[in-house]
Amino acid sequence: MNIQSTLRAEAALTISHVNLHYAHPDDGPAAALLLETAGLAKTQEIDLPRGGVFYRFTTNALSPFEGDNIVYLSPLPAATAALLAAARKALSFGTADEHPSVAAYRAAQAVDPEYNFHVGFLHKSLDRLEEHYLALKGLEADDPRFAGRLKFLVNRAQPGEVEIDARLDASPVFAGVTRHTYGRNGVQAFCETDLIVDGPLGGGVVLEFDYVFPGYNDHILAVSTTGR
Ligand SMILES: [Fe+2]
Repeated sequence: MNIQSTLRAEAALTISHVNLHYAHPDDGPAAALLLETAGLAKTQEIDLPRGGVFYRFTTNALSPFEGDNIVYLSPLPAATAALLAAARKALSFGTADEHPSVAAYRAAQAVDPEYNFHVGFLHKSLDRLEEHYLALKGLEADDPRFAGRLKFLVNRAQPGEVEIDARLDASPVFAGVTRHTYGRNGVQAFCETDLIVDGPLGGGVVLEFDYVFPGYNDHILAVSTTGR
């Protein structure tokens, strides 16, 4: 390795891990199955003394024990759960007297799944993205643990590239979709679930699955054409 490539290697910074939580101990196995179905590889599972299970996943099954590409999943810590409960109570969450900011927040999130914190995964194959996304829909349809707990929404690539348009017209996930990505030459498929806790009031997390078509410098994860 010459000096320049050594310097480049030392300058590289990758995302090591994302730490996710499930709210109820009973949700642990379903939340873990959700991540596996999405394409992550489970590398560790430990029963915790305080109850619940700790899981380690990697997005890179070819190098599963590297220090990056990790997703941790564990029970929501007690202090966080208490804080979320207090915040919900203060806002009369889910009651007729609910603070109006909650409905406004829900409405914004429903229109744009990227409105809040979310976790994005990049597939290197559109076929694999479709396969895993359809499998997630299968969980929702076939397994009662997931019934009503997964929401799906997809953004198709902006039209204009003949080959991309034709591929998406033939897609079991993106055919007929009229929502479009902010940027070009890629697609986004979202799965929101309350099996995993996130957001200011402990609602669901959004998992995003992306694909960028090869050969384009101006793809969705390189250039956004609309500000966020
Ligand atoms: Fe995103």
